[in-house]
Parts: sequence; C-alpha cells; structure tokens
Amino acid sequence: MKVSVTIEKLNGHDKEGKIGKIYKKTGDRISIGDEMFTIESGKGALNVKSSWDGTILELSIREGDVVAKGQVVGSIDAMQTGTSNTKKGYSFGLAKPEDKTLEVDVLIIGGGPGGYVAAIRGAQAGLRVALVEEDRLGGTCLNYGCIPTKAMASSVSVLENIKTSMIHGISVGDVNLDFGQLMARKEDVVNQLVGGIEHLMEAHAIEYINGKAVIDEQGKIIVHTKRTHYQFKYKDLILAIGSKPAYLPIPGSDLPDILTSEELLNMKEIPKSLTIIGGGVIGMEFAFIYRALGAEVNVVEFLPQILNILDEDVADVIRNSAEEKGIKIFESAKAMGIKNTLDGSKLLEVEINGEITSICSQKIAMAVGRSANLKSIALEKLGIELNERGNGIAVDGFMKTNLDHIYAIGDVTNIIQLAHVASHQGMVAIDHILGNCHEMDYRFVPSAIFTSPEIGNVGMTEKEARKHNLKIITGKFPFMANGKALTMGEPDGFVKIIADADSRIIIGGAIIGTHATDLMSVLTNLIESQTCIDDAAKVIYAHPTTSESIHEAILMLDNRGIHFA
Ligand code: NAI
Repeated sequence: MKVSVTIEKLNGHDKEGKIGKIYKKTGDRISIGDEMFTIESGKGALNVKSSWDGTILELSIREGDVVAKGQVVGSIDAMQTGTSNTKKGYSFGLAKPEDKTLEVDVLIIGGGPGGYVAAIRGAQAGLRVALVEEDRLGGTCLNYGCIPTKAMASSVSVLENIKTSMIHGISVGDVNLDFGQLMARKEDVVNQLVGGIEHLMEAHAIEYINGKAVIDEQGKIIVHTKRTHYQFKYKDLILAIGSKPAYLPIPGSDLPDILTSEELLNMKEIPKSLTIIGGGVIGMEFAFIYRALGAEVNVVEFLPQILNILDEDVADVIRNSAEEKGIKIFESAKAMGIKNTLDGSKLLEVEINGEITSICSQKIAMAVGRSANLKSIALEKLGIELNERGNGIAVDGFMKTNLDHIYAIGDVTNIIQLAHVASHQGMVAIDHILGNCHEMDYRFVPSAIFTSPEIGNVGMTEKEARKHNLKIITGKFPFMANGKALTMGEPDGFVKIIADADSRIIIGGAIIGTHATDLMSVLTNLIESQTCIDDAAKVIYAHPTTSESIHEAILMLDNRGIHFA
C-alpha cells in the first residue's frame, strides 16, 4: 500500500520549516518510529518519524529545503500493520502501549560493533535473537567514533593533497573549504552505514527494538517504547552497553562547553584555537584533523610521550610531523584546571617540571580515555560483578560474567576498547552459547591510528619486549627507500618488525607511513600464525608496492635488506 509522507506538524505556529538532517533515502527499509528527517526552525529541531513499517519509495527533499505544513515530500510502500499519519497526528500519545513478551534464545543489549555482530552471528547459527539499542545502531564506532573521525580524516587528506599538488606540477588556485559540506558528507557516510546495519538486522530476522533497556522491580529486563511495553523470556543475555568519554576530575572540567570527541565530531565551525588534554589515540587524531582545517592546536600529555602505548621511534615520527604542521605538543605536562577568560576563551593551567603555565585557546577538549557504561543499566540488580579495578564488568575468556548465561562484551568490559575487539568478543560469546568454545586471545590485536602519517601496530612492541626481558631482534625499513612510496610523494615513516631472537618467530610489528593501517593486516597474519623469519622471508611481494617494505623489514632482521645499507 502506497502512503504519502506529509509534513503534518511544524514547531508552534510555524507555517514553514527548513529540512535539517535526513536519515533515510529512497529504497531504505523503515519501521514505525524510525526518524526520517528533521525540520529546523528558530524554535529548534522537530524529528519526523515514520508511522509505517515498509520501504521508502521516494523522499524528494534535500537538506536546507523549505517545506510547508501539508506538503507531501515522499511516499512509503507500507505494510498494512502501520498506523496512518493522520491517526498518529491526532492521538497525542494517549493510545495505550501494547504489552508484548518476546521469547528469544539470546537477548542482546547494545547495538554497537559488539552487540550487532553478536546478533548476526547468533542469527546465522539459527538462534532467535532480540537486540535492544536506545540510540542508533552502530554504537560509538559508527555514530560518534571510528567512522565519522575517519570520514573527517579522509576529507582533510584531500585538502592536504590539494595544498601540496604543486609538487606534482598541478596548480589549483585558491582552495576554499566548506566545513558544513565536509561535516554533511561525514553524516552521509554514517547514515549509510547505520542504514546498512538496520538492513542486516532485518535480513537476519533479528528482533530489533529501539528503546532503553531497564531492570524492573522484579529484576526483569523491560523496554518501554511509545507503542509497546516489552518483556523478555531469554536463555542467554549479552550486555554490550559500551563506554562514554571520561572527564578528568580537575577544576573547570564541568564547564558546560568543554568538548569531548563527540562534540569535536559535531562542530558547527572550526575553532580558531583548540587545546586537547590527552595525547593518546583520540587526542592525536583530532589534533591532526583540526590543525589541517586551520585551527591552532595544542596537545597536553601527562606522560613523557604522546601515544605512550607505542614505541618511541613511532611516536617520534608523529611528534615531528605534528610539530612540522604547527601542532604544539606539551609532554610530561599535567592538566590542572580550566578557567573561563573575560573574552569567552579558556585558560588551561598545566604543570610542567613542577612549574605552572597557562595555555589560552578558544576551545578545550578532553581526550583522556573512555569510561565503561556501568551505570546505564542496574548491574547490581542482576548481581553482576565488576573487575578488580572496578572499571569494567568482569568476564572470563569466553566473555561470561560471574553469572551463568550472562555475558558482557566490548568497551563495558574495559579490556581493550576497540571496535574490532568488541566484535570478536561478540562472536566468542555466541560461540560459547552454542557450545563451540573458542577463548579470546588479546595477544595479537592490531590497532589502526589515523594520524598523519597513519600508524598500524600489532603484537608486542619493542618496549614491552624489553620490559619482559625478552631477547629480541628488530628489522626496520624506511619508506624513503621504497619506490612506490616515493612515487606517491609519501616518504615518511617505516616498517618495523620484532622477532624472538631464539625461536626467530615474529612477535610484533609497527608500520608508520602511507596506508600503514591497511598494510598492517599482513603483519597481523604473520604474527597470529607464529611465522618464523625464514618462512616469512620466502613470500614474494608485488612490485611496485609499499608492501615491499614489509619484505625488506623482514630481511633487515638479519641485516639482509636489499634496498637499504
Ligand atoms: P588514551 O588512553 O589512548 O589516551 C588518553 C591520554 O590522556 C593518555 O595518554 C594519558 O596519559 C593522558 N592524560 C590523562 N590524564 C591527563 C592529564 N591530567 N593531563 C594530560 N594528559 C592526561 O584514551 P583516548 O585517546 O581518549 O582513547 C580512548 C579509547 O578509545 C582508547 O582505548 C583508544 O584505544 C580507543 N580509540 C581507538 C582508536 C583507534 O584505534 N584508531 C580511535 C579512537 C579511540
């Protein structure tokens, strides 16, 4: 049945409104209550939600279009179960929600890369799965983390390529940046991926409920949406409830306009100057992005080295690159307090070598880690125990909590807060539920860091190996000596490989430079399969590619590199 999408309501007595964010497009599957788009006016934004389950046939609006009350802006191929727009418009929310008990094998709370991957894996194995998510599917990674950051980083990389195009003899005249368009593109990428996950939920017949899961007085999990009050009968429960940005407990950190990664991903304009507290992964990625966009950027890092988890030589390349681009780095610098100044900018008090100095900037952002969402559901009512540090849910190698049939995965366990770890933990939990035990192994988790240049890291670092008194050998090859990197004008960085000196097994590696994060998978495979130097050296790498640097670094473990002396 074809039904029209009509602008039925505007804010207050408005007769017209402007289309803001559009979340759906032609061809998208849609459920009752899904947000389709927003209409903005001076009084704020109004969310327009679907009153139908079905597929969007047409949505003839673009962001910024002015629409009037009563205007038809699209159509939906609706399933008969929907409620008409008119009916919804006049119900004023008084209709009594329907009570529904869902009987499933696995109930998953949280739809991030931990929860949604577990849901798909479970459904693939024939389990009946329900997934509850209070925000949008995709969790922090898709909506407020990896994906939007990488979309911004890609735009910035286009900008930098244009600015340096003269080295290729290409002159492009004035370069103008439309920050609004850059951010709109980022939103488009996010929306496309979130839509893809919604589709996967449907394709696998996973019961997806958009609402907040809470524990009632009887200790039962319930979800109340506008239309339905859900209760569940389940055999296994997986908690995948994620994390949120942490705030330093320093004076002024509670000022209303202190930014975190979430705000940095949704800025309306580029700040003139920005001080980032924390020179970890998030801090350094945003430092490069906002510097390339034109902001003056300071990074204040408490430890003696930015990106402290990495080896010194890797951090050195990033520090040099940052400083060349004009990012000011303060290491061994402790953020002590934040104050507002009379002109609306901010002063950050920093202790360096026992002395207090102040850094003034228009904005201050915190990137000092993420805290597990331990309060988003009453864990104590379920009897779930926390780890020894009290900062995550305690789990065993199969992601089981202290209680049988209750699992926890992803950032809420605070083991390694990375999307790909959460997804893998989700698969391990489902496998355990199915009786196929496959324990989590955290030794070979790769990380991909999108600084400029980017970094891939896997297995043991040199500094960890030395801390454990391991006898190691290292092989290092600079991109400066790689033909392909030079043709691309990307000579910075190197490939470093670490092997156990006695067994000659490759145990770790880092790549810093062009396409490092993609090249990393080669090292991950070598390390995971415990390859020894001699076997790894037999692999033929295609010429001309940057991957030849991996081969050269392997050869350098025995000082046999061909293109390096
Ligand atoms: P982080 O733990 O990587 O870095 C936080 C930094 O803040 C540390 O270096 C710490 O020494 C510093 N710090 C703490 N207190 C300070 C103070 N008083 N003054 C100055 N500096 C202080 O945490 P981050 O960067 O917020 O990332 C959170 C999580 O998200 C991490 O687990 C990270 O691995 C993950 N993530 C990973 C990404 C990737 O792999 N590409 C991207 C974004 C996040």
